[in-house]
Amino acid sequence: MYDKSSEYYDISELETWKTKKIVLGKISKLFANAQYPILDIGAGTGKVAIEVATNIKDAEILAVEPSLVMRTAFLSKLALHHYDDIRNRITIIPSDIQNFEYKGRIGGVICDGVIGHLYEEERRQLWRKLSEVLVPNAPMFIGLLNPKMKDAQIGTMLSVNYVGKNRYETTIKNKECLGSDLYQWTLEYSIFNGDEAISGYEDKMKWQFIEMDVLMKELSDFGFKGGKISESMLTFIKDGKSA
Ligand SMILES: C[S@@+](CC[C@H](N)C(=O)[O-])C[C@H]1O[C@@H](n2cnc3c(N)ncnc32)[C@H](O)[C@@H]1O
Repeated sequence: MYDKSSEYYDISELETWKTKKIVLGKISKLFANAQYPILDIGAGTGKVAIEVATNIKDAEILAVEPSLVMRTAFLSKLALHHYDDIRNRITIIPSDIQNFEYKGRIGGVICDGVIGHLYEEERRQLWRKLSEVLVPNAPMFIGLLNPKMKDAQIGTMLSVNYVGKNRYETTIKNKECLGSDLYQWTLEYSIFNGDEAISGYEDKMKWQFIEMDVLMKELSDFGFKGGKISESMLTFIKDGKSA
């Protein structure tokens, strides 16, 4: 998952990123007083981490990302000279979150587009670990997959964008419910030059939908208080008590 489709990841988000950047401008303020590093779980190609580091001038970020290809795209961005000022504040860690070695306290958490890749037991282990390492009142931002994806029809074109003379398209080729809110989409990624398809492949993506109320209850068991800020975003604060 994500290795093949990483080529398309940023370009397919071109439109949604405009709105997300505005939202992240507000969310970044939550991290303004972080005295310890901010953990970005499943940092992907780095857009969220880079945005927060750009908005909060002294934020230090630990960006955990298991996919080699996603990390490559992230690292390539950080190598651009206009990121000279933030490059020394973002550390990319090649690991999934289950195997990440916490080496000290954590001042906040970003977890955008990742929770549905974890099963309930893995989530609970994560909340438990975070409740141990997070400083009191540390903020956490969680972004979920848009719930409309559950109802999106086969054949729906999710994105179309041009780069030079080439057109990049992402389309839902198939969708299966694997039971109990676990969905799997087969996404078709294609590059066209005019009418000619010059490249393309299919990749599968699984996502475990979780109702926001269920997630909030789950997190409250571990001392997190918070709520929805949109149909797919939530923010929490870790209380001062241990789990
Ligand atoms: C939809 S992308 C989101 C990327 C980024 N957070 C963003 O908002 O652009 C999901 C990311 O989660 C990563 N991921 C999947 N399972 C993970 C796990 N167990 N631990 C950490 N990251 C994971 C994937 O490799 C992928 O980069």
